[in-house]
Amino acid sequence: MIEFRNLHKSFDDLHVLRGVDLRVEEGETLALLGPSGTGKSVLIKHAMGLLDPDEGDVIVDGISIANATPRELRKVRRRIGYVFQNAALFDSLTVAENLWLAQTDEKEGRSPQSCRAEGEDLLHRVNLDPTVMDKYPSELSGGMRKRVGVARAIAHRPRYLLWDEPTTGLDPVNADNIDELIMELDRQLGVTSIVVTHDLDTAFEVGDRIALLYEGRVRAVQTPDEILKNEDPVVRKFVRRSRVDDAVA
Ligand SMILES: Nc1ncnc2c1ncn2[C@@H]1O[C@H](COP(=O)(O)OP(=O)(O)O)[C@@H](O)[C@H]1O
Ligand SMILES: [Mg+2]
Repeated sequence: MIEFRNLHKSFDDLHVLRGVDLRVEEGETLALLGPSGTGKSVLIKHAMGLLDPDEGDVIVDGISIANATPRELRKVRRRIGYVFQNAALFDSLTVAENLWLAQTDEKEGRSPQSCRAEGEDLLHRVNLDPTVMDKYPSELSGGMRKRVGVARAIAHRPRYLLWDEPTTGLDPVNADNIDELIMELDRQLGVTSIVVTHDLDTAFEVGDRIALLYEGRVRAVQTPDEILKNEDPVVRKFVRRSRVDDAVA
């Protein structure tokens, strides 16, 4: 379980997170919605210990991120797969080499060859052809790069997957395909996911629950059906606008 407790984070004068309380339950997919620049990425980076909280804490499987030893942090990071917003692949490495970096670490020291079959299996899971293995990121479309980023995130068999804007920048067809992939991987791997998105369709499609981050706090966290009925004007502004027709239909 991942639990954010009264999390505060500022950058100079900018008080981004102002006491976030949020519990991500085992096995669920939580969609995290919120306006751009509101701190969604900042929030999930705390779960991996990529940022230190000013106040409050994140508890991952009982480990306090604020007080974690380097060893505990490594343990937490091994349990989490992070799908970066821009795929963040190494341009000068092939897909196989990009995957290999995530498949092994200094301690294991596995060779690229020994990781290859497993790499093909990872590509298969994200619906990419194995011929992609020897291509460079620049030879792939945006949607394909995103899938490689997902393959890399699941390479170490994480228990949690954090998706940062997985459909942003994709055309509607590719965005739907990624929504499908999120749901399929959640089922196949039995992972617990946080999907950061400002795409309402994605949030309602993949989210068991939807959380709205607003002005540095969680304004609402409810099932899709519940949140559509939420009468808080701020929540309504976010979820009603483009969902009302779908809900009625
Ligand atoms: N490392 C950082 N240093 C300074 N400011 C940052 C840093 N990371 C994020 N911010 C600022 O924090 C705010 C929230 O950012 P972010 O979490 O990326 O928003 P979003 O909700 O769009 O993901 C933004 O104003 C951003 O500029
Ligand atoms: Mg972001």
